[in-house]
Amino acid sequence: MTQKVQIIIDGKTVDLPVLEATEGRNVVDVRGLINEGIYTYDPGFLSTAACDSEITYIDGDEGVLMYRGYPIEQLAEKSSHLEVSYLLFNGHLPSASELKAFEQEIISRMAVDEHFQHIFDGFTAQSHPMSMTCAAVAGLASLYHEGLDIYDEDHRRETALNLIAKIPTIAAMTYKKTQGEAFIPPDPSLNYAENFLHMCFGKKGRAPDVNPVISAAMDRIFILHADHEQNASTSTVRLAGSTEADPYAAIAAGIAALWGPSHGGANEAVLDMLSEIGDESQIDQYVAKAQDKDDPFRLMGFGHRVYKNFDPRATVMQSSCDAVFKELGVDDPLLNVARKLEQIAREEDYFIERNLYPNIDFYSGITLKAIGIPVPMFTVIFTLGRMPGWISHWNEMLSSPFKIGRPRQLYLGPGPRDYVDVGSR
Ligand code: SDX
Repeated sequence: MTQKVQIIIDGKTVDLPVLEATEGRNVVDVRGLINEGIYTYDPGFLSTAACDSEITYIDGDEGVLMYRGYPIEQLAEKSSHLEVSYLLFNGHLPSASELKAFEQEIISRMAVDEHFQHIFDGFTAQSHPMSMTCAAVAGLASLYHEGLDIYDEDHRRETALNLIAKIPTIAAMTYKKTQGEAFIPPDPSLNYAENFLHMCFGKKGRAPDVNPVISAAMDRIFILHADHEQNASTSTVRLAGSTEADPYAAIAAGIAALWGPSHGGANEAVLDMLSEIGDESQIDQYVAKAQDKDDPFRLMGFGHRVYKNFDPRATVMQSSCDAVFKELGVDDPLLNVARKLEQIAREEDYFIERNLYPNIDFYSGITLKAIGIPVPMFTVIFTLGRMPGWISHWNEMLSSPFKIGRPRQLYLGPGPRDYVDVGSR
């Protein structure tokens, strides 16, 4: 029997059906309220499900994250970013032959057209890599918009292949632009993560030279960032896509949303914060600032809208960080500050009472710095990892009937009043 909840509006009892989840919380279907002359109110969508989805499940209380039912810990240990990309988009793990064909398909599409590279002529070495990435991904629409039918599943698959294949190349091009170095084309003999590192750190005319421990750590970072249900940037992609906008433009909107320091920009903000703290003697002062209601300062890399327990990705990221530091023999004082900050913060009542734990961005930034990725590139790496998630959600929405996203509001402005001529004001 379908569950329901009842609310009483002006003495009238209204039944609202409860829709059952396969995992986690059920939802009250409030669509019928429009006929009752009342709206729901939930700024920030803390208690609002904007859609249904089969892609990713998070249990914030238990620290659970699953892509298509597979726990993130298992995927991070046993899978690859391209296999996870296939899983997110298609809903099942590929067979060996399917995976090989998908990998070949992606690697063969990694190059960007020669003339397209001139989009970077409009930028300088000082241009922020996220600005360049957002512009370049939107620019891909100039190559693929003509004849693209978003209601044709083959066209949607083509779009996904293009975006997953080209985002590492575009990301590496933004890095090369900041370094004032020539772009390096993808090398078909390398895998996905190896190619990204080669296109970043390789030199024109030289054979690839990629450290396998580093490329494995980078691939794991991509996996950990691949999807996260209806976070702000994914919701932006869905909202932009709901207008039937070009998918490359909708993804560019998601990239713009990710850039914010409250979201994907946090990994860059974590490093800026650790550098500002400088050494362990300053930590108490910053932990106090983070608790001061009158101070806008927040401990970057801590807290999460959904995880009220440890972010499972942070646990995996922490072990990956240790592996990279061991491989590179890095002894970065910022890591010591980070570990001490985590220890102090987790002993403070303020953080314990608010369930503020380190999130994925807390350790990803330190790991990327150890690999030699400059801080302004950190959110571009997040963009690269999240690409399959974004395009899988866009595809899922387009695969069945959907409505344009158009929230309503609680109006608190002035009531009706007549215009007054300027001479009479
Ligand atoms: C990502 O949604 C996703 O899934 C995102 C993401 C993904 O994979 O897509 O997981 C990636 O964005 C991770 C989050 C990265 N952001 C940061 O690390 C920035 C620092 N964190 C905060 O800005 C904050 O924790 C948020 C934005 C992440 C979550 O904010 P919420 O859920 O809106 O919580 P809130 O702002 O209502 O805070 C609740 C309380 C408040 O105090 P009180 O008013 O109750 O006294 O906790 C406090 C906040 O002031 N608080 C913090 C804090 N985070 C929350 N205080 C100090 N430092 C912090 N980091």
